[in-house]
Amino acid sequence: VASMKPCIRPDMFDFEGVFLTRFFTDNWENVKNFQARPDDILIATYPKAGYSAIKNPRTTWVSYILDLLYFGNDENQTSQPIVQRVPFLESCFQEFSTISGTEMADNLPTSPRLIKTHLPVQLVPKSFWEQNSRVVYVARNAKDNAVSYFHFDRMNMVQPEPGDWDSYLDKFMQGQNVFGSWFDHVSGWWQKKRSYPNMLYMFFEDLSEDTGREVNRLCSFLGLSTSVQEKEKITKGVQFDAMKQNTLINHVTIPFLDCKISPFMRKGKVGDWKSHFTVAQNERFDEVYKQKMKNSGVTFRTEI
Ligand code: A3P
Repeated sequence: VASMKPCIRPDMFDFEGVFLTRFFTDNWENVKNFQARPDDILIATYPKAGYSAIKNPRTTWVSYILDLLYFGNDENQTSQPIVQRVPFLESCFQEFSTISGTEMADNLPTSPRLIKTHLPVQLVPKSFWEQNSRVVYVARNAKDNAVSYFHFDRMNMVQPEPGDWDSYLDKFMQGQNVFGSWFDHVSGWWQKKRSYPNMLYMFFEDLSEDTGREVNRLCSFLGLSTSVQEKEKITKGVQFDAMKQNTLINHVTIPFLDCKISPFMRKGKVGDWKSHFTVAQNERFDEVYKQKMKNSGVTFRTEI
């Protein structure tokens, strides 16, 4: 029932140069000192690039693919509560009496551990780099990412109030979002890849264009010898329509997500920005984009 959704929209504040809310800083000592392991796999994205979700890791694209690749046939594992399978490292939602992301990760019985994060690269606990853990980063083009994040902020009561689309887009261009600037996030991680080869940098647009090809790339990066048959099954199972049909995946059970405002599995399209951006907004955006991305070295497709 809509009226029963807890509304505890938090404030956003500058935390070491990045906008965050208390849900991602309350446990900071433990995040900072987190002990990574050499076989950990860190899945990193800016919010709404197709991987994350608040609590339910099987919900979204890349963590779902990885979860299936590693544990898809393990009965013991699939009967485990989902929230304990791919911890969201920096999350700390005490009000909802869930344990923190770091505690979940420490309690994981499985190996390798799949751990997800939205942190910009400079805030990632240093033990991941020291242990040379594997990293899968997923990026999505700025325009679709902005639209997706806007709808997410509307329906997610533990995010700051998004306001209207026009002012939201302005804030997005200025980097005033939870987890900071999209521009800094995708560029920072891209830069890191140069000095840290144990990272696969993936694009939402590539996943959308040819999921099977990207599943193959993931397998070769991770050194998995998954059978062709199994890979095909996974590729089919993670298509948007298949995932959207599953109520668990569509997040209807999470108390602070109001799926009446906007469904979690919204559209899953490349190029949906075209139905949101006015011509003027698009021109304004392109101008800012050119400026902010001129030295980044990473290029995106806004349509496929
Ligand atoms: P839209 O809002 O554009 O629909 P995240 O998982 O990082 O929270 O990102 C969510 C976005 O990824 C949503 O975008 C969602 O629809 C999209 N997505 C998740 N799984 C997908 C899939 N299997 N195919 C296409 N898009 C998917």
